[in-house]
Amino acid sequence: MKINIYPTAEEADYAAALRFTEIVKSVIKPKIGLATGTTPIGFYAQLVKFYQKGVLSFKDMTTYNLDEYIGLSPDHPQSFAAFMDNHLFSAIDLPAAQRNIPHGDTADSHLEAERYNSLVEGNSPLDLQLMSIGLNGHIGFNEPGETLSTSAHLVHLTEETREVNKKSFTQGEVVPSSAITLGLGAIMKAKRILFLAKGDEKAEILKQAFEGPLTTKVPGSFLQLHPHMEVFLDKDAAKYLTVNINVVT
Ligand code: GLP
Repeated sequence: MKINIYPTAEEADYAAALRFTEIVKSVIKPKIGLATGTTPIGFYAQLVKFYQKGVLSFKDMTTYNLDEYIGLSPDHPQSFAAFMDNHLFSAIDLPAAQRNIPHGDTADSHLEAERYNSLVEGNSPLDLQLMSIGLNGHIGFNEPGETLSTSAHLVHLTEETREVNKKSFTQGEVVPSSAITLGLGAIMKAKRILFLAKGDEKAEILKQAFEGPLTTKVPGSFLQLHPHMEVFLDKDAAKYLTVNINVVT
């Protein structure tokens, strides 16, 4: 893993967006794994700028989001489907039929997780997975625990994650207690991972994930095993890291 550290979050976003563009241009019909959360917002804004300048097109891509809350329909403002529309899809040339997100409003979540897993893993791995990490070490919504799943599955969110994610919900609204997430299998089989994190609050969990032992208590620690992961951090997020670092000035 190569950890690139930038003076600011904006520079980390820009560098990651440039690298994303370079990678997708080298693949004929790229299969791209996308992520939500506050972390990729600036990165997506940068991709939109590249699209507007004519240096990046999404029309041949197929995208697969990591996760979705159970109980929220795609038009619910806090669904990850709505997030993707707001921050990326509505501004680019990715055909609607080529955007995939687990269905959160399905009657049978286990069946939906199975369907989504076959869709993503399909005949070929993802060419690129965009990734960040939760404050408790989760990736996608693979929460810390005694075990981890390789396949997409229904997950009960930890109280910590629900509390942290309150920031995206309006006051008084209840954060869903479960979600469908891709498992570690699709993530680890992705040909490349672009990992983003920014801000002081991620510094401690990044130290554990990137320089600590592999443990199901920190699901992000398994990313240490990925052969082609490139990391883009600002200096605040990177402040405790000492191994494999490349400080960009
Ligand atoms: C979210 C997503 C994760 C994301 C993480 C971090 O809930 N399920 O894929 O990486 O939590 O969120 P943030 O970027 O807001 O810190």
